[in-house]
Amino acid sequence: MNKKNLLILILAFCLDIFSVNAQESKTDLAPTPPMGWMTWNFFGTNINENIIHEMADAMVANGMVKAGYDHIMIDDGWQGGRDNKNNMIPDPKKFPSGIKALADYVHSKGIKLGIYSDAAQLTCAGYTASLGFEDQDAKTFASWGIDYLKYDYCNAPSDSNTAKIRYKKMAEALRNSGRSIVFSICEWGGRQPWFWAANVGGQLWRTTSDVRDSWKSLMYNLDINDQLAAFAGPGHWNDPDMLIVGLRGNKGPSSDLGGTGCNDIEYQSNMSLWCIMASPLIATNDVRNMNEATKRILLNEEAIAIDQDALGKQGELKIKDTVWNVFVKPLSNGDVAVAILNRSDATQNASINFKDLGLDGKYEIRDLWEHKTLEKAKAYKGKVMSHETKLFRLKKIS
Ligand code: GLA
Repeated sequence: MNKKNLLILILAFCLDIFSVNAQESKTDLAPTPPMGWMTWNFFGTNINENIIHEMADAMVANGMVKAGYDHIMIDDGWQGGRDNKNNMIPDPKKFPSGIKALADYVHSKGIKLGIYSDAAQLTCAGYTASLGFEDQDAKTFASWGIDYLKYDYCNAPSDSNTAKIRYKKMAEALRNSGRSIVFSICEWGGRQPWFWAANVGGQLWRTTSDVRDSWKSLMYNLDINDQLAAFAGPGHWNDPDMLIVGLRGNKGPSSDLGGTGCNDIEYQSNMSLWCIMASPLIATNDVRNMNEATKRILLNEEAIAIDQDALGKQGELKIKDTVWNVFVKPLSNGDVAVAILNRSDATQNASINFKDLGLDGKYEIRDLWEHKTLEKAKAYKGKVMSHETKLFRLKKIS
């Protein structure tokens, strides 16, 4: 081998190592779908450091952190512009102690801190954003101890190329910031980010427009996200937006466009469907004041285990007709999760042969909402209420 070829071989080897490492470190950042609580749908831009302290305390006390909700994400409205060195600063009235002190507090509770910016000069709510200051802002976020960045796309050009360039720029800035920061791409699905978001450095990407507190909105987001199973996996997730569980028609961003609230059956469906689709589980209700029904839904550890399963498969939609949506999600221990949604306006008798879902043989059926193991069977037969989603874990026995 001549010198030139040897050099090429060494170079190729190094590039290969680096690309493998880059891939691994991306997966490390979000090996399972991120979980947490986000300020947006309950508070809008009326946020401050006391609220974040109270939320952190509540999430420890009510068991959310233990159940896996280990992030608090500060959404739009925290910004106070830039200082005379162009460093981004928080609104001094809302965050008088600064974001670093807040991150220290949240970290001391075992919770990570997320923040929000936008790939333009101004955010969706009209606050200072990061275009042209990506490196500086990423370093600022890292110096504060930020663990997660939601990066929005308001006030940016609508074409895909610009979006790819702007998201890549911020992903690189985060990678060079000296801190591991999860990168959440939020361009609402318009530029089909499932094809490019992981490549430009995102760990998750919104697939839909903003969720509202209504059944119609849940179904709208479901019908987009359920087509995208092939694109999800460890380190790269489809994000059909926050859980609306427990918002109960709260006046705020989620109450726009008919967001007048859901019943508990519907909130349970939100949780079941997001879990079977390996979606990020990001609550946005007032977690300081949850009733028992809301806690039962958000803190269902058997459902969360389906979402967080290490195999990282998004459940596939196997049956879709005017009444039923049935999903199947393989799990790391060989079990299979099945979700059965009744979309009709009346209670229905389900009779779902597992064979029709590609599941041969007999299974032990565990109902993850009743927390009961049912009969061993080759099918599920039972009543499913209007808008209810049954969530099962099946263990093959023969
Ligand atoms: C957009 C996003 C929302 C929220 C708001 C904040 O609408 O999609 O999730 O972050 O901006 O202004």
